[in-house]
Amino acid sequence: MPLPVEVLIIGAGNRGQIYSFFAKDFPERMKVVGVADCRQVARQNLQMKYSVADCNVFDDWRGAAARVKFADAVVIATPDRQHKEPAVAFAEKGYHILLEKPMAVTVDDCKEIVAACMKHNVILSVCHVLRYSPAVVKVKELLSQGVIGEVVHIQHLEPPQGAASRCLNCAVEQSCPYSAKKLYLEGVKNGHKGWPVSTICEGADVDIESVTKALCEGPYGRCVYECDNDVVTHQVVNMEFEGGVTAAFTMVAFTEKLCDRSMTIYGTKGELSSEGQHPVKVFDFLTQTKKEYPLDYSILQQTQLRGHGGADYYLMDSFIQAIAENNPSLIMTGPEETLASHLLVFDAERARRESRIIYCNRTE
Ligand SMILES: NC(=O)c1ccc[n+]([C@@H]2O[C@H](COP(=O)([O-])OP(=O)(O)OC[C@H]3O[C@@H](n4cnc5c(N)ncnc54)[C@H](O)[C@@H]3O)[C@@H](O)[C@H]2O)c1
Repeated sequence: MPLPVEVLIIGAGNRGQIYSFFAKDFPERMKVVGVADCRQVARQNLQMKYSVADCNVFDDWRGAAARVKFADAVVIATPDRQHKEPAVAFAEKGYHILLEKPMAVTVDDCKEIVAACMKHNVILSVCHVLRYSPAVVKVKELLSQGVIGEVVHIQHLEPPQGAASRCLNCAVEQSCPYSAKKLYLEGVKNGHKGWPVSTICEGADVDIESVTKALCEGPYGRCVYECDNDVVTHQVVNMEFEGGVTAAFTMVAFTEKLCDRSMTIYGTKGELSSEGQHPVKVFDFLTQTKKEYPLDYSILQQTQLRGHGGADYYLMDSFIQAIAENNPSLIMTGPEETLASHLLVFDAERARRESRIIYCNRTE
C-alpha cells in the first residue's frame, strides 16, 4: 500500500486527537483525510489541524460510513457504547480498523466485531496500548527466552461534613484530596495544559476560563462523594489458568503515580519485574544476581504521542506499519486475542457482581 496511509477519524475527542498526532509527527506515514464527530468544535479542530476537505467532515459516523470508501483505515474513538456499530459498518466497507478499548460492552457485540473483521479480511487493532510499550515487549521477549524458567504451576466513600455538590463553591474543598479545583484549575494555573486537564474542556483552547467553565457546568466539577459514577475504585482479580498458572491483577484508583503499571512474574529459575519506563529487572535464583535490561524510548523525542509511558506511539507505529505492509502479524492486539481477553473481563465482572468464582467457558 502506498504511503502515507490515509486515515478517517471517528470520534475526535481526547483519544481521536491523540492518534491523529501521528499524522502531524510522521506525515510521510499517515494522513488524516476525514473526520466525524457530533460536536462541531471537535470536528472543526481536527479539520483545521489536518486540512481535511469539507466533503470529508461528518457530524455522525454514519455519514462517513454511507460514503464510498475514501480512506485506507479508520480510527474509532467514540464512547464505549458506540464502538460496535461503526466497527461492523466500517469493516463491511473494507476499512482497516484501529478500535478503542473496550471493543464493545457485551460479549455478543465483541464477537460480532471480530466476525465482521475476519469476514471482510480487514486488519483490526484494539487499543490495548500498554501491550506495545517497550517494557511489556521486553518482558515478553525475556519470558520467551526463558530467563526466569517456567512461570510457576502452582465506594464506599464517606462525604466530608459541609461539602457542596460542586468543588468550585465548596467550603471544605481545601481539605479534600479529590478537589477538582486542585486537580484541574491549579494545574492550568501552573501552566499545565496537557492530560488530564485538556480532556475536560469543550473547545481546543485549554485556559483558566475554559477549565473554570468545565468545572462549573461539566461532570468533572461535581463532588466526588455525590457523583453517580459507579465505576469501581479498586479491584483484585484472581485467575487460575489451565495447567495451574495463577495470576493476580490489582487495579487501584488512589495512587501517587498516574497511569503507571508494574508487574512481577515468578518463574522456576528467576523473578522478573517491570515498572513504568524503568529498566526490566531479572533476578536469577541460581546465581543470586540481578540483571537490568534498559529500554530505548528515544523515538519519543520526535512525537507528541507520549501517553501510556510512550505506548500510544508504539501502538500507532504498529498499526500504520501493518497496513502499509499488509502484515497483520505486527498487531499485538488483533481480533482473536482481544476477544479472549474481553471474555475474561466480562467473567471477572460477573465474579465481582455475584461474589463468586466463575468457571470460564462453562455454562452455569
Ligand atoms: N486506550 C486507552 O488507554 C483509552 C484511554 C482513554 C479512553 N479510552 C477509550 O477511548 C474511547 C474514547 O474516549 P475519549 O476519552 O476520547 O472520549 P471523548 O468523549 O473525549 O471522545 C469521544 C468523541 O466521540 C464523539 N462521538 C459521540 N458519538 C458520535 C457519533 N455518533 N459519531 C461521531 N462521533 C461521535 C464525541 O462527540 C466525542 O468527541 C472510549 O471508548 C474510551 O473508553 C481508551
